[in-house]
Amino acid sequence: MDVTAGAMIPILHKLGELLIGEYNLDKRVKKGVNSLLTELEMMHTVLRKVGEVPSDQLEEPVRIWAGKVRDLSCDMEDVVDDFLVRVDEGSNSKPTNMRNRVKKFLKKTTKLFGKGKALHQICDAIDEAQVLAKELGDLHKRYMLDMPNTSNSATIDPRVLALHKDVGELVGVDRTRDELIKTLICEDGSSKEQLKMISIVGVGGLGKTTLAKAVYEKIKAQFDCVAFVPVGQNPDIRKVFKDLLYGLDKKKFMDIHNTIMDERLLIEEINEFLMDKRYLIVIDDIWKEEIWRYIDCALYKNKLHSLVLTTTRNVSVSEACLSSSDGMIHRMKPLCDEDSQILFHRRIFQSGEKCPKDLQVVSRDILKKCGGVPLAIITIASVLVSNQRIKEKGEWMHVHNLMGHGVTQGGIVKDMKRILSLSYYDLPFHLKTCLLYLSIFPEDCEIKKDWLI
Ligand SMILES: Nc1ncnc2c1ncn2[C@@H]1O[C@H](COP(=O)(O)OP(=O)(O)OP(=O)(O)O)[C@@H](O)[C@H]1O
Ligand SMILES: [Mg+2]
Repeated sequence: MDVTAGAMIPILHKLGELLIGEYNLDKRVKKGVNSLLTELEMMHTVLRKVGEVPSDQLEEPVRIWAGKVRDLSCDMEDVVDDFLVRVDEGSNSKPTNMRNRVKKFLKKTTKLFGKGKALHQICDAIDEAQVLAKELGDLHKRYMLDMPNTSNSATIDPRVLALHKDVGELVGVDRTRDELIKTLICEDGSSKEQLKMISIVGVGGLGKTTLAKAVYEKIKAQFDCVAFVPVGQNPDIRKVFKDLLYGLDKKKFMDIHNTIMDERLLIEEINEFLMDKRYLIVIDDIWKEEIWRYIDCALYKNKLHSLVLTTTRNVSVSEACLSSSDGMIHRMKPLCDEDSQILFHRRIFQSGEKCPKDLQVVSRDILKKCGGVPLAIITIASVLVSNQRIKEKGEWMHVHNLMGHGVTQGGIVKDMKRILSLSYYDLPFHLKTCLLYLSIFPEDCEIKKDWLI
């Protein structure tokens, strides 16, 4: 569970309501609530920052500390909720629906805080929470915990391997690749005069990079200069520009990575270099529109039939990619059933060997859960083979049952989780909590809105 998924937001709202509402709070309570609110807002900001980093990249002490902050926020919510229930004092039935509870709470707060006993209790609870919050703050100072730096991740992206896949291992790519090339390049072998753009969009692991690479390899010989540049989630834009220059001319820009140049100079250098050349550039894995806008500035819009391909998981980024050039969005489709099966079986059985009859049904069921996503198919296939031995049917069934419930064995599955969790860490804070909350419901379960808080 994510360290940030505490109850911070609801509790901040509730405390805020108490303060700004027309509730006749005792002065003492008001002061306590106010300083607690500030304390919690600070904690919330810190937790947000921690939540932007995958937990396996967090320093152990930071992770432990953030967990404790989250626990405190949950305890605090319990305290406030406890008051919500007490508001209903006198009635035997506790209101179960949160919204009703809040309503009742707001209605009767004035009355409640007028009562000496309740006043005493809320003051005690606030004092206690403040002591705990202070202790956590001291802990943070004492151990000089460094907040994670989201732009400085040193882990290796497992997707690098996909760039160097043998084309022979790919399934169903040729057809889509050739269709894309046809739309990019006219019958007579030339593309349209102006710069043309294709933005490939789709969920993680669907094969966007693989397709872009296939197109790039097939047509690159027709261009004066070419480059394939991965961007990623938290890019250093100067490095992206330097990678681009290095890709375009390895000799000329041999030393570019050791040269100190700011963004402005790099953009000028790229523009100048591209001005009189027919170029093919792939900008792979863009996460933010803003990053694209910087890159776009560097791509000189000549009339020499140049081509740009971009890939992204994000539809709004792919739309932004088209804003300054003629082009189209290619929505990546999952592999069809037949191609899924070919990829799956090719990964498990020796070439030419067929899937044994007794494994056919479970194999189909597993593929159904993979939803035509190549990354899922090849990951599950590697789980079913260990030391070149194909596992027994019972183990296939077991894997099938575990799918969707977090299959945890092996480094390959870990890599897949890491690749897909990039999308989770890209979510805004409130949607992270929302997604985690929804994930407690079983797959395909209908979620009634009344069940949700
Ligand atoms: N058609 C295919 N046949 C065989 N393997 C494939 C195919 N398409 C993709 N793969 C494999 O699936 C994995 C994921 O593909 P890829 O990295 O291209 O996905 P992606 O859509 O770019 O994902 P991300 O959003 O994470 O960048 C890679 O290991 C790749 O080699
Ligand atoms: Mg990719």
